Amino acid sequence: MTALTITRPDDWHLHLRDGAMMRAVLPYSAQHFARAIIMPNLEPPVVTLAQATEYRDRIMAALPDGMKFTPLMTLYLTEKTDPDDVTAAHNSGLVKAVKLYPAGATTNSNSGVSKFDTIRPTLERMAEIGLPLCVHGEVTQNDVDIFDREAVFIERVLDPIRQKTKGLRVIMEHITTKDAVDYARAQDETLAATITTHHLVINRNHILAGGIKPHFYCLPVAKREEHRLALRTAATSGEPRFFLGTDSAPHTDANKLLPCGCAGCFTAPNTMPILAQIFEDDNALDKLEHFTSLNGPKFYGLPVNKEKMTLTKKPMQFPSHVNTDDGPITVFDPGYDLHWSVI
Ligand code: DOR
Ligand code: ZN
Repeated sequence: MTALTITRPDDWHLHLRDGAMMRAVLPYSAQHFARAIIMPNLEPPVVTLAQATEYRDRIMAALPDGMKFTPLMTLYLTEKTDPDDVTAAHNSGLVKAVKLYPAGATTNSNSGVSKFDTIRPTLERMAEIGLPLCVHGEVTQNDVDIFDREAVFIERVLDPIRQKTKGLRVIMEHITTKDAVDYARAQDETLAATITTHHLVINRNHILAGGIKPHFYCLPVAKREEHRLALRTAATSGEPRFFLGTDSAPHTDANKLLPCGCAGCFTAPNTMPILAQIFEDDNALDKLEHFTSLNGPKFYGLPVNKEKMTLTKKPMQFPSHVNTDDGPITVFDPGYDLHWSVI
């Protein structure tokens, strides 16, 4: 096959940041993706409908002329979130999900949740009104090994929440383990899981063997090869519960290369060529559209995009860096040449 036309994709988990960085990275997402679920972990976080509306307006103001892109906003769930504000956010049509960060799990998660009982009224309300919960699924206890934090979260936090809150629609975000794939497959249609581009490419050796590679460090951290293979099988299966959430998470090189560097891989510029290659390698090009363009809108109850995207078999050159007024950002390098391009 030398050309593939699919429904224009969406990104169901994206960090756009704000200010100079947003202006630099937004065109890369808007170039390929019609819509994206926008993460609220700014500093300060996007907690209320009013803040989400202002952030949406800043995104639209930063969008270059002639580009079309719809940001699907999220609220950052805190122990003080007001269920009525969540209802108002849902009714506004701007906010498509609420994001749960366990406090301390990742970048700007300090305002997240420590006592999961405190968010029960909000979760009940979300189940009632049909607003989905996006979950960063890692426990944060120091006595739990970082490579086990996703599996332990499923058992100790996620499953109990779902048992208590029947009907709540939940997205397990950026899953990294076979445990998460198996859990997702065993649940009803109220549960879905997103998978990033980079977790389909790297395992933990890529980060740590032969020297430390800060640009491959993200959270949840990449796991053993057997987990990467389970993610590949899930993504390329076409099953409706699995869809793309890139978690493209730009940080300047200065912040990535610190003694305590930031977590995040910046994949917006080359995600679609990487995915086309992965699906081709796994003999699943016919399932790419399900993963990038069909399964996500179905879960969120949104229409599928009308526009199309064509990928052609020709070498794709991507920039090694994107420059911003805050400094350069390194683009995720899968470690091999890419031979699909978006036209
Ligand atoms: O690698 C990550 N980067 N994982 C997250 O959960 C947050 C993100 C960020 O905001 O930088
Ligand atoms: Zn993220």
